[in-house]
Order: sequence, then C-alpha cells, then structure tokens
Amino acid sequence: MSTTIGVPAETAEGERRVALVPEVASRLIKKGLRVVIERGAGAKSYLADEAYVESGAELGSREDALGADVILKVQPPSDEDIAKMNPKATYIGFMSPLDAPAISAKMAERGVTALAMELVPRISRAQKMDALSAMSSIGGYKAVLMAADILPKFFPLLTTAAGTVKPANVLVLGAGVAGLQAIATARRLGARVSAYDIRDAVREEIESLGATFVELELETQDSSDSGGYAKALAEEKQRRQVELLVPHIGNADVVVTTALIPGRPAPLLISEDAVKAMAEGSVIIDMAAANGGNCAFTESGKTVVKEGVTIVGHTNLPAEMPVHASQMYARTLMAMVLDFYKEEAFVLDMEDDIAKGACVAIGGEVVNERVKGLLAG
Ligand code: NAI
Repeated sequence: MSTTIGVPAETAEGERRVALVPEVASRLIKKGLRVVIERGAGAKSYLADEAYVESGAELGSREDALGADVILKVQPPSDEDIAKMNPKATYIGFMSPLDAPAISAKMAERGVTALAMELVPRISRAQKMDALSAMSSIGGYKAVLMAADILPKFFPLLTTAAGTVKPANVLVLGAGVAGLQAIATARRLGARVSAYDIRDAVREEIESLGATFVELELETQDSSDSGGYAKALAEEKQRRQVELLVPHIGNADVVVTTALIPGRPAPLLISEDAVKAMAEGSVIIDMAAANGGNCAFTESGKTVVKEGVTIVGHTNLPAEMPVHASQMYARTLMAMVLDFYKEEAFVLDMEDDIAKGACVAIGGEVVNERVKGLLAG
C-alpha cells in the first residue's frame, strides 16, 4: 500500500491558499505517493479540480483528505479536523506552536505526529523547507503595494509638464526576510527608502538594495549584568529606541514595520507621538499585527485611521496572493515530505535536525520543549 497524502481545503476566514498545487502533486505522485485532494480545495487559488486530476491526484471528501497517512495544510487544524485524523497519521503544516500551544497538545492527545512548519530550523539543508521565509517575502512585497495603493501620493520621482513630483519616503523597520523584500519592492516603485534594524549586520544588505541604513545612538552602559539591572537597561534601550525613531517616522510617507523576535510579543517601535509626527494621509503597514503590532495604534486584522494616518494591521498578506503563495508553500512541503519519504514509507528520524526541530507531537506526547513550557505554565 502506498503512502497517501491528503489535502483538505482551508476553512479559516480570508484564507485563500491551498497546501498543494497540481505541479507539486504530480511530482509527489511520480515518487510513488498517492494524493487525495478535497474537492474544491484549490478554487480560491484559481486551481480547478480538473487540474489536480490531470496531475494524477484523486478527488475526495474532507474526511478522505483528513484520513490520509500524511496530511498537508496551511492553517492549523481545527478541533473537528483533529478528531477526523487517523491517529497513525503525520500532519505537516503551520501550527502556531508558540502562540497557540493547545493545538499541539490536542494533536498529541489524538496520537498524530505533528510537524510545525514554523519550527523548521534555519539551517542550510532546510532552506528549501523554509515556509516562513517564503511567506514573509510575499508579505513584504504585498505590504508595499498596499501602502502604495492607499498613499494619496506618487512613489516615484516624476518630471512632468506640471512640474516635478518628489519621490515618497518609505521607512522599513526590521530588515529580515519581509523587510528586505519590502525595501526591494519600494525601491522598484521608485521611492526613497530607509531602513532600520537592531542587527547592525544587515546594514550591507540594506545598502545593497539602494536604501539608507538608519543609525540610532542607542549605546547604553555595559549590559552584561544579569537580573533586574540588565532588564532595566534593556527597557531603557527600548524606550530610547522608540524616542529616537520619532523624527525618522515623522519624515516618512509610508512605514512598513516587521520587527519581531520569534516567540515574543512584537516590540513597540511606533509610539502615538510618532504617528502624530507623520503628515496626514501617511500610511503604516504593521506586519507584526498578529503578535501585538509594532505600532501603538495597530488593531490586529483591521485598518484604522488615527491622527490622519492609515494604519493597516492585516495578519494574512500571503493569502492576498494565493497563486504564488500556494505554489511556494507547496514546494516547501514537498521538500519536507521527500526528505522523510524513504523506501516507499514516510519515516520520521527523530535524530535528524529537521525532524527534531519541527516535530511538536509524536507518540502521544508533546515533544518540543518550548511548547511544553508554554503548556505547563
Ligand atoms: P525575520 O526574523 O527574518 O525579521 C525580523 C527582523 O526584525 C530581524 O531582522 C530582527 O533583527 C528585527 N528586529 C527585531 N526586534 C527589533 C527591534 N526592536 N527594532 C528593529 N528591528 C528589530 O522575520 P520575517 O520573516 O521577516 O517576518 C517579520 C514579521 O512579519 C513577523 O512578525 C512575521 O510574523 C510577519 N509576517 C506577517 C505577515 C502578514 O501577513 N502580516 C506575513 C508574513 C510575515
């Protein structure tokens, strides 16, 4: 009996992605796997059932997809979904392990082996499985396009018969994967871009994209002391950072903010004073909205106008570009499946760095230490 991959449709509000696209399904089928797709699962990504059938996949019910040996999903499964899974199955998909650890506990209770795509280690062998980076890159791109759409101004410098139009100033806070894509996109649209990150190491990357690195005079005294003193220093540094950013934010037409350290609430970078310093009509896209936001006014999942500034707290930008988001996500899942698919069976080797990093539940137990810690207390 060959291993069956099941792909249920996504049911979360606003979710338009699907975990497997026909191109990837056909590659898995060529490797000897059987693929069952819930009817209509690809519709919101413009992928018709017929395209999956042509790729060699079979269509089935939600129960068929959830009853497979390996279940591929985008959004974490609901309780009803978990109840329909075969206890011997392996789930691979996003799981929000650090924000919603109860899902991992429920998967363990069901007996399912669960691999969280958020926890794939950032090592070179796992690069092709790095779903978070793929989605962040899409998010950074879409964030800038949204800002350009809302901004009542041009992005590029224009020389016209009606005079010269100055380019928009775009500030990007946090220059990781999403931030660097935001910088590149804003530059392609002709904006003047500056960017800030606490890691000085990204200066070169920022500059190589044609943006200016914003330097803040943040030096505090020796922060190596432990305990309360170090914490107070960290808080002081954070407060200074917020203060020093005000003029830079005030000078921006658009701020795209992406600052986050995984597993922690997003740091506050844009105070109410900073928003007041911006011109009316300016735009903030807060990509960290789902984790509390980098801006004091951000409301998760909403767009609000404060002090004349539009603040977008969209929490699922990749779902706004479902065609490429589904394609890229499916490829990361395929890399994961094929890494563990040996001699016609899906086998998880818990000595392997990728399995060890991504596995949150196996053998009826939650095995990830951070998730266990969160569940305990
Ligand atoms: P990343 O880890 O590659 O980058 C985050 C960057 O923020 C790092 O360079 C880090 O040094 C920096 N940072 C952390 N604290 C900072 C501070 N206090 N000041 C300045 N910089 C700071 O993460 P990635 O993949 O770029 O994702 C960034 C954010 O975007 C995450 O919050 C992620 O959840 C979110 N995201 C949101 C989406 C949406 O639809 N809203 C879609 C995709 C990602």
